[in-house]
Amino acid sequence: MAKTGGLGDVSGSLPKELARLGHDVTVFMPYYRQAREYFAAQGIEPEPVIPTTWIGWAAWTADVTFLRTVLPGSDVPLILVANDYYFDREQIYTSLDPIDAVQRYAVFCRAVIAGCEILGIQPDVLHAHDWHTALLPVYLHSGLQASTSFRSTRSVYTIHNLAYQGVAGSAAFNVLGLHSRYWSSDGLEHFGQVNLMKGGIIFADQVTTVSPNYAREVQTPAHGAGLDGVLRAVAYKFTGILNGIDIEEWDPASDPHLPSHYEAYDLRGKAAIKKALAGDAELKYDSKTPLIGVVSRLVEQKGFQLLLPILGKLLKAGAQAVILGSGDRAYEEGFMQVAEHHPETCRVWLGFDNALAHLMYGGCDLLLMPSMYEPCGLNQMYSLRYGTLPVVRLTGGLADTVIPYDGTNEELANGFGFTAPSSEELYFATWIGMLSYKEAKLWKKLQRNGMAADFSWARSARHYEEVYARAVT
Ligand code: ADP
Ligand code: GLC
Repeated sequence: MAKTGGLGDVSGSLPKELARLGHDVTVFMPYYRQAREYFAAQGIEPEPVIPTTWIGWAAWTADVTFLRTVLPGSDVPLILVANDYYFDREQIYTSLDPIDAVQRYAVFCRAVIAGCEILGIQPDVLHAHDWHTALLPVYLHSGLQASTSFRSTRSVYTIHNLAYQGVAGSAAFNVLGLHSRYWSSDGLEHFGQVNLMKGGIIFADQVTTVSPNYAREVQTPAHGAGLDGVLRAVAYKFTGILNGIDIEEWDPASDPHLPSHYEAYDLRGKAAIKKALAGDAELKYDSKTPLIGVVSRLVEQKGFQLLLPILGKLLKAGAQAVILGSGDRAYEEGFMQVAEHHPETCRVWLGFDNALAHLMYGGCDLLLMPSMYEPCGLNQMYSLRYGTLPVVRLTGGLADTVIPYDGTNEELANGFGFTAPSSEELYFATWIGMLSYKEAKLWKKLQRNGMAADFSWARSARHYEEVYARAVT
């Protein structure tokens, strides 16, 4: 609906699972331009619930319209917070001015609070995600308990990516409308700047992140992005819960984006998808040539600085590659250059294309994720479910989900892995993947191991229930 990466997937699919478990869930999100376009394309017109309302806070006011609809494919209520100036923009999150970024989400968080009050929603738990909504636990802490809506509300804060903390100069503190006691090193002040994520971590009743391994890593200076000390201090309320995936949307047996379908016990349909993908990429289809894929934001986190120097060599060693992504210019241009040098074996699409992403998870043989760090990672889970074996750097959630083949563990393995952040190690792991692809029996076994894994939300949502229970007691 409106996504740049995995946060969009999780915010759409976790609430559905919680509702299935019997919870009364309401989702609030900004009415981004992308969401507007999505609903328009579906012929859906979300209805205003109440007339346009003025939200006045600190030194600012903003008019907000609340529109009601449901999360697509469910009956979970979705309240869209509309304000054209702040949310009808080309970029979903990116804002060049840090104070503007803080202002946008201060408006959103205050609007959520006003929306609950006006609509008579009295949540037991307010679950906020990432820096954008980190202010919700802070506002709750700062005196909302006086409001009927929030008298017994507790907060849970989930970190999806510690690298984006919502940082701005000290002047941004005025936008927040908080008592000056929140401007301290055990509040939102961090080395002289406003840090929203720090506030979320300190003031939420429970804090989670999106895999157990990342939860351990971020408590160390090497991975804590300057907040490891804060995270160690809240270890008593901090847990890692592996994300789930929406197994209905991502199902090779029924995916409407695929030209044919398949299941673990009968993988024959996968070949036709590879053929269709090769056709779209204008590459020669060859069942014996391993087709490597990348579907990703092209940013430093994802480790493509390791891939770029060796991609040509992998192609020369007998692979084909298809790359779908967008992000930093240097990576976009780097991949385009490789494709220009290897037009017969490599195709690059710059942009964001959900239908093509589905086709790639289905049609590729190997999917590369050489991430420098990875809080959870959904791509490897989608590709495992589609019998496309991931080659990953064993960090964060990748180490929690991929069992690398080591030449002896074919009963368990479901992909390929390496640990040192080096091009040589990535090359070697991918090469082992390419060799394994040539061994039909081994390959099928590894594919089936991956397809058998249960990454459904059913399991992860139970862990969130435990966290909610801890928050309210
Ligand atoms: P992150 O959230 O760090 O980007 P994840 O692996 O958690 O990484 O989630 C990425 C999500 O974004 C997946 O659903 C993936 O399919 C999608 N995605 C990333 N880049 C693109 C793209 N260029 N086109 C379509 N989908 C993309
Ligand atoms: C972030 C992380 C990614 C995670 C996603 C959803 O964008 O980079 O690893 O899967 O959030 O939690």
